[in-house]
Amino acid sequence: MTHQDAPAVAGIDVAVPSVARVYDYLLGGKDNFASDREVGDRLLAIAPDTTRTAPIHREFLVRGVRYLAGIGVTQFVDLGSGLPTADNTHQAAHAVDPRCSVVYVDHDPIVLAHGRAILADHPRTAVVQADFRSPDDVVSAPGFERLIDLSKPVAWLMLSVVHHLGDEENPNALVEEYKSRMTPGSHLFLSHFLRRPGDERIDRLEAVMQESLGSGRFRTQDEIEKYFDGMEMVHPGVVSTALWRPTAPVAPGDLETSHILISGGMAQKT
Ligand SMILES: C[S@@+](CC[C@H](N)C(=O)[O-])C[C@H]1O[C@@H](n2cnc3c(N)ncnc32)[C@H](O)[C@@H]1O
Repeated sequence: MTHQDAPAVAGIDVAVPSVARVYDYLLGGKDNFASDREVGDRLLAIAPDTTRTAPIHREFLVRGVRYLAGIGVTQFVDLGSGLPTADNTHQAAHAVDPRCSVVYVDHDPIVLAHGRAILADHPRTAVVQADFRSPDDVVSAPGFERLIDLSKPVAWLMLSVVHHLGDEENPNALVEEYKSRMTPGSHLFLSHFLRRPGDERIDRLEAVMQESLGSGRFRTQDEIEKYFDGMEMVHPGVVSTALWRPTAPVAPGDLETSHILISGGMAQKT
């Protein structure tokens, strides 16, 4: 079902695009409105070779979560989780270990509404509506307290969400705050828009996002690596998402596509 006009959740203004719904559109989902598709199409018009960027990123998410569940992590907090789509974090984790607890956190009310409906039958999962800029709100939410024991290792996912913080919001300090709350053995799994030197399209993409969504910052490889300061990087470090522990040969087209927009990596607190 593609919603054309009618709001799916009371109180949502379908004329105003949202990050979660634009991303859903780019992933091939159906929970988006004309205003969201217009933004997605404007981005794709600037960089037509990025149609695979969101699906490649989702495959990266799945590989990362499977890796974490495979080494024994059983608690996952997915900050800025987005709308539930195919291959969500709980599905990737439960495919490896059904005992995993997964808490989704997003500030968009549509994520809460759809997530709760989809996860109603999954007792080891919860959806929390909170702003991840307030870690206290996140960790004190009932769904979080029910499922996550902060005295044990947790995998903290910050995938394609930190780039929705402006420089004035000091994203480094926020990531450090979360790191300070991690018990040793915990992981940070983070991806971010990459500002590639010399790519003149980046400024145009950033301008469209800022104008239509009010957020979206591309940062350099060095700036992205800095989020992991003081932690032990998991091989191969911060790389193009297609190149992060691929399980099959990477198609040359996918490599080029994913290089354009997003870098990601994972590190452990020791
Ligand atoms: C591009 S989507 C990424 C979804 C998912 N993490 C992934 O990588 O597939 C970014 C999500 O972050 C959410 N988000 C942005 N700023 C947020 C904030 N301050 N607090 C909580 N969620 C936020 C948006 O609503 C959106 O659903």
